[in-house]
Amino acid sequence: MNRRIIVGVTGASGIDVAYEVLKLIAEADGFESHLVMSDSAKRTMELECTYGQDTLEGMADVVYPNDRIESRIASGTFKTEGMIIVPCSMKTVAGISGGFSDSLLLRAADVSLKERRKLVLAVRETPFNGIHLRNMKNLWDMGADILPLMMTFYNKPETIRDMARHMACKCVERMGIDPECFKRWQTVRSAERIR
Ligand SMILES: Cc1cc2nc3c(=O)[nH]c(=O)nc-3n(C[C@H](O)[C@H](O)[C@H](O)COP(=O)(O)O)c2cc1C
Repeated sequence: MNRRIIVGVTGASGIDVAYEVLKLIAEADGFESHLVMSDSAKRTMELECTYGQDTLEGMADVVYPNDRIESRIASGTFKTEGMIIVPCSMKTVAGISGGFSDSLLLRAADVSLKERRKLVLAVRETPFNGIHLRNMKNLWDMGADILPLMMTFYNKPETIRDMARHMACKCVERMGIDPECFKRWQTVRSAERIR
């Protein structure tokens, strides 16, 4: 049986990273993606992306409407590796932190925590306020990975897509996928003393 990864997409900036995450899961042997998008994610997509909801949904193995609270991913009995929320808005961070599961996406995140499965939150906001920081600390204390969508330079990105892919690699790596395209940091060998 394939290892299932739930991918939640919310209305924060950076849906291109979700695109890359879905692509990496599709390319990985033995994994499948289960996608749920918030309404705001669809709106942000319209405003930011050159592709539409259909494109993202077409890359996932299973797609769930966010209001279908009876879906499989709402139950801990449905086995998954866990959930990546990418990009993750501060509203969704607050919802998970407060245990306020009024949508399928929030419920699936709640289930990941209660079942002690991986919950990767690719948060995106800048600057953070005290509420954001408190909620993220609360979730980190409960075992979630807080993985902010930050710009990276050491991998020498030439395009925004390079940067998005790098962050996507970091997300899927937490779920046991080791993408070939992941440019890991190579230390300056002359600085190492290898016996
Ligand atoms: C173009 C656009 C970009 C946004 N970027 C962010 C962001 O980076 N971080 C964030 O927390 N909210 C952002 N928002 C606001 C969220 O979409 C809004 O708070 C929404 O209620 C989040 O709902 P959701 O978590 O259910 O998707 C953005 C909204 C728009 C329209």
